[in-house]
Amino acid sequence: MSENHPGFSRRDLFDALSGVSVGLAATAVVAEQVNAAPSTGKVEPLENFKFDIENQRGWVGEAGSAKEATVAEFPVSQSIAGVSMRLQPGAIRELHWHALAAEWAYVLKGRCRTTVITPGGKAEINDFEKGDTWYFPRGHGHALQGLGPDECHFILGFDSGHFSEFGTFSITDWIARTPPSVLSRNLNLPESTFAQFPKKEIYIGPGKIPERSLEDFRQAGLEMGEFTHKFRMDPMTPRTFPGGEERIVSSKQFPIQKTITAVRMDLKPGALREMHWHPHADEWQYYVKGRARVSIFGSHGRVRTEEFQPGQVSFIKQGYGHYIEQIGDEATQLLILFNSGEYEEISLSNWLGANPSTLLTANFGISKEMIDRLPTKETGIFGRRS
Ligand SMILES: [Fe+2]
Ligand SMILES: [Fe+2]
Repeated sequence: MSENHPGFSRRDLFDALSGVSVGLAATAVVAEQVNAAPSTGKVEPLENFKFDIENQRGWVGEAGSAKEATVAEFPVSQSIAGVSMRLQPGAIRELHWHALAAEWAYVLKGRCRTTVITPGGKAEINDFEKGDTWYFPRGHGHALQGLGPDECHFILGFDSGHFSEFGTFSITDWIARTPPSVLSRNLNLPESTFAQFPKKEIYIGPGKIPERSLEDFRQAGLEMGEFTHKFRMDPMTPRTFPGGEERIVSSKQFPIQKTITAVRMDLKPGALREMHWHPHADEWQYYVKGRARVSIFGSHGRVRTEEFQPGQVSFIKQGYGHYIEQIGDEATQLLILFNSGEYEEISLSNWLGANPSTLLTANFGISKEMIDRLPTKETGIFGRRS
């Protein structure tokens, strides 16, 4: 049963249409059922849409740590998962790939290096610092390393809430499970040497801080891809509004980032990110600084409001109405992901501007004078109310 249309799913509509001859009579039957649906179906309450990712213990090792927000921890987040990862200087997040998801990241603190190989055999090494992002398409092999001198902390985003369980493939795990006879043929070492390899997946392990300059690939003459996997988000020119600013990175700005749009949103004290929804994508938020109150509207009179502070994650389903109220004296900053490479939104203000006054008068039952005061186009982020 679809949560959005309790008692009458799209599938039911399709079945109704295909079960009778398509004509006026069929249309009338369907219309009647649609009208009757809200009063007959059971309406489930809105799911929890808040998760405290930084408050988890997660995976902790001497070389780093990782805290996950997947469907296992945060069931509503079916389409997007997040990980807060920290690497000590020199530490490696070993060579691996994700079978189920593309990986995005934003560096919050420190510096790190990535390597990635594409199916076309192109390779890339990139160095990252605060405010930089990366994107690795699903299945592309990659590795990370902390560059020091301090810990590197970054937020990873995946375009599947299920990316972690059975979805992450590590090089040491594969080698540990492959017979030495095969490894010897494939990797050109005597069978006896494989006893020295790790017995199981390393995941995050210690390492030496690499040279400051980029090291060469092992394969001489390997073509270096262009810097296609890196995008510097912080230095880009933001969209500015009375109450704050937004840096929106879709596949327009960062062509490889085909399945995700990323936003850094900064809200001044007292700001209101206006009422809107996204027709095509779920929205995932990670709070970096400051506080905010988020309200969502999920049809059938269902609304839910939660307060967020740094280290907490929010998830707003595709098409659900929402707005963000900045709270507290400190400016609020959040990272936002959408599970689409294209950015789309519909603001309530634009919608009101796109209708004639007489229709709105009838809809709300209020005077023409009041209708004339309603906004006709979006503000984006309202400033503090004076
Ligand atoms: Fe990864
Ligand atoms: Fe939104």
